Amino acid sequence: MLSKKEIYKQAYKELEHRRLQRQLKRNNNLKLASSICPEIKALSLNLSKTAIKLSKSILSNSANQSEAIRKIHEENIKAQSKINKLLIKNNLPPNFLSPPPICSKCEDFGFVDNKKCSCLIKLVKSILTKDLQKSSNFYVTSFKDFNLEYYPKEHDKKYGISPYEHMSNIFKICNKFADDFPNCSEGFVMCGLTGLGKTHLSLAIASEVMSKGFAVIYSTASEITRKMSDRYFHNKSNNEIDYLKLIVETDLFILDDLGTEFDSTFSKSAIFDIINSRIPLNRPTIINTNLSPRDLEKKYGERIVSRIFSTLNTLSFKGTDNRKHNTIKKLSIYYKHT
Ligand SMILES: Nc1ncnc2c1ncn2[C@@H]1O[C@H](COP(=O)(O)OP(=O)(O)O)[C@@H](O)[C@H]1O
Ligand SMILES: [Mg+2]
Ligand SMILES: [Zn+2]
Repeated sequence: MLSKKEIYKQAYKELEHRRLQRQLKRNNNLKLASSICPEIKALSLNLSKTAIKLSKSILSNSANQSEAIRKIHEENIKAQSKINKLLIKNNLPPNFLSPPPICSKCEDFGFVDNKKCSCLIKLVKSILTKDLQKSSNFYVTSFKDFNLEYYPKEHDKKYGISPYEHMSNIFKICNKFADDFPNCSEGFVMCGLTGLGKTHLSLAIASEVMSKGFAVIYSTASEITRKMSDRYFHNKSNNEIDYLKLIVETDLFILDDLGTEFDSTFSKSAIFDIINSRIPLNRPTIINTNLSPRDLEKKYGERIVSRIFSTLNTLSFKGTDNRKHNTIKKLSIYYKHT
């Protein structure tokens, strides 16, 4: 994981990149506008000269300094308005020579009145989130790759519906959750045996939510407990990054494979502290587990588990292990090539 110094170094580099891109765009647009209308070039050149005149006049401290500044300012406004008219006449947008910054508050410098701008804080959070993702098994899946044909279509007497129909409903619910995010439900507990697509569907949600610009942290329960018992995670004096706060406040948190982590009182309370802290913040959480509700109760206690089940919607995955389809797919590709 990155240190605070490295995180800020990356953030400042990104801000510098944004300013540079803006400068490049400005230069390119000026070239283009000048080739269409040479008068624009002359006027822009004059504008940059008046900027130099202005700073000289400020430094001169002469008796008629304010009069000189007023004159330069007037000249400036005139030239600017002439340029604007010429831009419009040549069918170019009025801000063509001054493309807007990504953040208008700080003009992509990251600070306003010596205080960190909200864009810098957002940037730091997104670098931290990516850093956490890098150290997890996060991989990209999509709703498009989710094959409902894998689920048996035979009517299941026990459930009164076929696994195919049941999973089609779950698929729709997950799609809607991603579409509605962040105005969606509090999240899900995805239960069911291994290989039924719980991780696949939750990461498909993650991809959609991330493409809308929201932050997602994905972690397996064992990873998170390992990280939380790590000195690095807690030693704030060393790196001053509060990873726990970052997880609690992230837009969507996906906790995969609950129940497979090393059993300890510490890990149990740490995990559920995160989940519980997110509820009043209205931050959705998705929990995946291969354990049945009864096994979860045995492991974590009835009180904790019933609170989770009463807050998050339960999605019980049904079917037979889908990993066999992937093996068949891989084999057929292999045979095609031999
Ligand atoms: N319905 C499905 N369509 C396409 N691939 C699937 C489907 N269900 C599972 N898989 C694939 O099978 C493997 C195991 O699925 P996974 O989502 O990890 O299951 P689970 O988390 O329920 O144990 C993954 O490679 C996943 O992409
Ligand atoms: Mg899984
Ligand atoms: Zn800003």
